[in-house]
Amino acid sequence: PVGAPEGVEAKKITKVGVLGAGLMASQFALLFARRLGVPVVITDVSQERVDAGVARIGDSVDEMLAKGRVSPDDANRIKALVSGSVSYDAFADADWVIEAVFEEMSVKQDVLRKIEQVIAPDAILATNTSSLSVAEMGSVLTEPARLVGFHFFNPVAVMPLVEVVRAEHTSDEAVATALAVAKTLKKTAIVTADQPGFVVNRVLARVLGEAMRGVEEGTPFEVVAQGAAPLGLPMSPFELLELVGLPVGAHVLDSHHAAWPERFYPGDGLKRIAEHGTILTRDKKGNATGYDPAAVKLVAPAKKD
Ligand code: 3HC
Repeated sequence: PVGAPEGVEAKKITKVGVLGAGLMASQFALLFARRLGVPVVITDVSQERVDAGVARIGDSVDEMLAKGRVSPDDANRIKALVSGSVSYDAFADADWVIEAVFEEMSVKQDVLRKIEQVIAPDAILATNTSSLSVAEMGSVLTEPARLVGFHFFNPVAVMPLVEVVRAEHTSDEAVATALAVAKTLKKTAIVTADQPGFVVNRVLARVLGEAMRGVEEGTPFEVVAQGAAPLGLPMSPFELLELVGLPVGAHVLDSHHAAWPERFYPGDGLKRIAEHGTILTRDKKGNATGYDPAAVKLVAPAKKD
């Protein structure tokens, strides 16, 4: 890939640590176990969350088995490779540790600072941040050179791209290792600069933000969705917002607005909808059937009598 360091050896990965056991973290923990074939340990703030993450991975493996995507042997092998622990001690021998905790700088810095104290001096740290500065995140580390961005997309199993974010401090070895990991995961990697939204979310924030702004300025949700259809997106901007998670979507838009207030939608309407919980109405199978009147009320301008 463009930006790959030349002649630099990737570090061999023998154990993976995943900080965070949420939806996205469990999806890529499964992928690491499946494709790298090494032990993967996940952690979170409580035993319940860790157990839920491990159970979710088990369920996904069962689903893959039922669909014939993995053999029974592979399914057992993947499950055996994944474990959970609330203690960071379980990360001591991991050489690739990726964080996917709450998308807030201080939270991410806190877990990275703590994990750095237990891992080996040459272990690589990665962050799945979608738009925060990797340089700022790494500034609290003793060895910021080991921190690299490694940004997945939803749904992790399907989306082919990973953004490898090279911050000013990031070492060539960390970038080379991230690229080698991406290749083993069968993902395409691009090396991006450390700027808000990197490449993908920067483009996406414009599309999603303008879709929301259109609604706030009086165009109904269904008309905006219909208007966006000729762009060939696999789903409407509003379905996509629900796929990534409304709070995450609102956060992404907010961070772009903070970086470039004059260029990006501030996301206030989306924040109100995120608190409400849904934009779309759905049938029992989860297929979208229309737009939630309560969500419409939260953002559409009041009709004049
Ligand atoms: N998990 C695992 N597999 C999934 C899945 C999921 N959540 N959703 C769909 N799939 C699989 C299906 O099993 C199916 O596999 P198969 O072809 O082997 O049977 C394949 O994907 C296609 O699925 P479907 O036929 O059910 O549905 P579609 O063809 O409509 O595709 C989609 C679904 C892949 C989700 C497609 O709509 C899409 O690409 N949407 C856009 C996704 C996107 O833009 N993601 C980026 C979001 S930005 C982001 O994540 C960054 C963050 O920082 C905000």
